[in-house]
Amino acid sequence: MPTNSSPQRILVCTAWPYASGDRHLGHVAGAYLPPDIYARYQRLRGNDVCMVSGSDTHGTPITVRAAQEGVTPADIVARYHGRFVQSFKDLGLSYDLFTHTDSQNHWDVTHELFRNHLANGYIYQDRQQQPYCLIDQRFLADRYIEGTCPICGYHDARGDQCDNCGNTLDPVDLIGPRCKICGQNQIEIRETEHFFFDLGKASPELAVWLSQGKEHWRTAVINYARQQAESGDLRGRAITRDIDWGISIPLPGFEDKVIYVWYDAVIGYFSATREICALKGNPDAWREWWLDPDVKSVYFIGKDNIPFHSIIWPAMLIADGRGLNLPYDVPANEYLNIEDKKISTSRRWTIDLPDFLSRYDPDPLRYALTINAPETRDVNFTWEEFVRRNNDELVATWGNLVNRTLGFAFSRFDGQVPAPGAYDEADLALLAASETAFTEVGAELEAVRLKLALIKAMELAHAANRYLNDKAPWSQIKEDPAAAATTIYVSLQVIDRLKVLLNPFLPFTTEQLHGFLGYQGTIFGHSYIEEVTDGRGSRPVLRYDGSQIEAAWAPGILPPGQRLQKPAALYKKLDLSVVDAERERLLAHLGQAG
Ligand code: MF3
Ligand code: ZN
Repeated sequence: MPTNSSPQRILVCTAWPYASGDRHLGHVAGAYLPPDIYARYQRLRGNDVCMVSGSDTHGTPITVRAAQEGVTPADIVARYHGRFVQSFKDLGLSYDLFTHTDSQNHWDVTHELFRNHLANGYIYQDRQQQPYCLIDQRFLADRYIEGTCPICGYHDARGDQCDNCGNTLDPVDLIGPRCKICGQNQIEIRETEHFFFDLGKASPELAVWLSQGKEHWRTAVINYARQQAESGDLRGRAITRDIDWGISIPLPGFEDKVIYVWYDAVIGYFSATREICALKGNPDAWREWWLDPDVKSVYFIGKDNIPFHSIIWPAMLIADGRGLNLPYDVPANEYLNIEDKKISTSRRWTIDLPDFLSRYDPDPLRYALTINAPETRDVNFTWEEFVRRNNDELVATWGNLVNRTLGFAFSRFDGQVPAPGAYDEADLALLAASETAFTEVGAELEAVRLKLALIKAMELAHAANRYLNDKAPWSQIKEDPAAAATTIYVSLQVIDRLKVLLNPFLPFTTEQLHGFLGYQGTIFGHSYIEEVTDGRGSRPVLRYDGSQIEAAWAPGILPPGQRLQKPAALYKKLDLSVVDAERERLLAHLGQAG
């Protein structure tokens, strides 16, 4: 593959996690890991990537949690935002900026869009019917009310969305509503004054946009979006709430209400781009990411977020009136179950990311969640499969290829990359396969088929193992040391290429391998945590420094004579007892309050 002559700008957008609880493996597989793999690949291609997200700090997910614990919403946000930043770094997520929505910048940008929407006639004021709890004497927004879903009949639907069918709801339509604060049903419908975003006004433009050049969109996403845009059912949605935690409404007379969390959260993609450009000392550079129609913006989300990213956010971008870029793609993922059961944080049927990383390494997790990614259907995570894939695929296939080749080269060729002699057919075939892999794996990554990309990269590792078994350099070296040198050179060369092909998936161990192969720097740069202070306070953010990228998405040449480092195992074999121990741990937590 030729090197990239004209870099493409790619804005990689990742769903903003609510700062109200740790992320679990379902979130990681659905929304957080795929964009990192995609971003790493694009950076290796030489493209200009900006990957942004942050903690979603507002709304009733935060306030309900704070009330349960008897602490302030700000305490909850500080705790979980801190845990996201740390665990995302530990997982190797290379965000250019992982920030949060309680920054001065985000408040300012949200106000800016609100004013633009108002000026362009997309926001209007109206009275609305809202459930009101007579016992608690307050309006019950979103998660403060639960009941039966009017669409699918699910019993525990929330006021704003049903977790079962994924539809967004109007709380007054819930059947048998209950107040989440007092648990009672002393609820009456009262009128309240709110601002509304006019989705209907945007729907003709949405329909046109959705009808053009969406061949690369996943079926579930484009079908939903087209159906919505063409249904004629899109109408105004309240974008303010009667609660006291959230971004203020930038107009006098609304001091006791706040902006709805979803209205501000999606704006995060835009505000975070502005924040990172400012942090890098170029506050106007956001224009190059949002106003140039050649930029591709790709939104990685779980399927429950499809309505907000395929309809509402695009409508808000249209309504802004500055010509901000609409999504290029929204590769939403399906769900991950655990041990055949749907993940449930309330029932504690879950594996949280920080907990997982306290016992296991990040690369085996990244591997397991990608080789069985929920791209087109729900998938199942089992400990048995995790252990099997770790042992059979990472340790026995890829790790073993690296170990025996590097170990042999290190001990028998004086710690150097040996010089090859003449190639035979088998040598040439494997080298050719390692060259075409860049095109083939790259094509899958380009199309966000990450699972297939990883399968194809692993096929090359399998082929290299077969090659090594056939050549048997440990026998060759006795009769024909020059032939053994050629075999080891070819193997090292292919490993050096696999190092790049696998880096998006396995960043930590490929980085380690880069050192074993005798390179000095890093393949990929590094992530770091930085404290940022602004008008609203001080919080850590996660950043990425890519100025040190040394590798490229192209078949490189490993220099003969390069000094190797003494290799060590890249992966640890897991004992089969892990399976039972982890299942017991899951069962022990089941039903305990989170
Ligand atoms: N906070 C939401 C969730 O965890 C996702 C928000 S994505 C955003 O489901 F784009 F709105 F920020
Ligand atoms: Zn109540």
